[in-house]
Amino acid sequence: MTEPGSRAVATIEYLRGIRPTILPSLLLCDFSNLRREVELLEESGVDLLHLDVMDGHFVPNLTYGMPIVEALRKITSLKLDVHLMISDPAAYADRFVSAGADSITFHIEAVPGDPGPLLRSIRSQGVASGLAINPSTPMERLLPHVRECDLILIMSVPAGFGGQPFDPIALQRLSQLRRDFGPELLLEIDGGINVQTVGPATAHGADLLVVGSAIFREADYCQAMTRLRRQFQAS
Ligand code: DX5
Ligand code: ZN
Repeated sequence: MTEPGSRAVATIEYLRGIRPTILPSLLLCDFSNLRREVELLEESGVDLLHLDVMDGHFVPNLTYGMPIVEALRKITSLKLDVHLMISDPAAYADRFVSAGADSITFHIEAVPGDPGPLLRSIRSQGVASGLAINPSTPMERLLPHVRECDLILIMSVPAGFGGQPFDPIALQRLSQLRRDFGPELLLEIDGGINVQTVGPATAHGADLLVVGSAIFREADYCQAMTRLRRQFQAS
């Protein structure tokens, strides 16, 4: 039997092998036809899906929880990247593992103490784990924990809603992490990524680029993906 920990390692290796890559955020998709939406994304060649879980408490918006992750796990073999925007990630992380997540990030702002035990607990169950940080939170909160993370999610908008404007502070943060922690660390960016911002984000070190409106507000997801990928590394 494969050790759960080695499944997490395999996921991390997989992500390193495909970077940079676009992760559609399903926040703005057509939930009345989820299966079709996923098929369209598969046809456009995406590698993984980004799932925004909001609890109406940590952020002033509510989305979905474990049942949607479970449903997606049944209908696709794409990897599922779960972004927890909830007040008590330790209380729910195991259930997102069981629901089929391949990677889970939770917010440093949501954890008053040491996030290390939760990061390790998630990874020990075969799921890559990482921390997310909002633009207004000082990097000093995050830096002591970076080496315990498989991936870091730099928010380029305040967590909570799709369609917000990109905050360039995220670019400095990506550069800082890439410079200080080397090429292995997986860097994810989330919020306001579009044809204008995708190039600068990859040029500053982003590996995993979450995109909501710049895909789901377009008629043709495939074309939207192609336009975004064309901008990789353009600063
Ligand atoms: C915001 C979410 C994002 C959001 C991105 O809190 O974490 O994943 O859906 O949407 P856009 O690309 O529209 O900023
Ligand atoms: Zn997100």
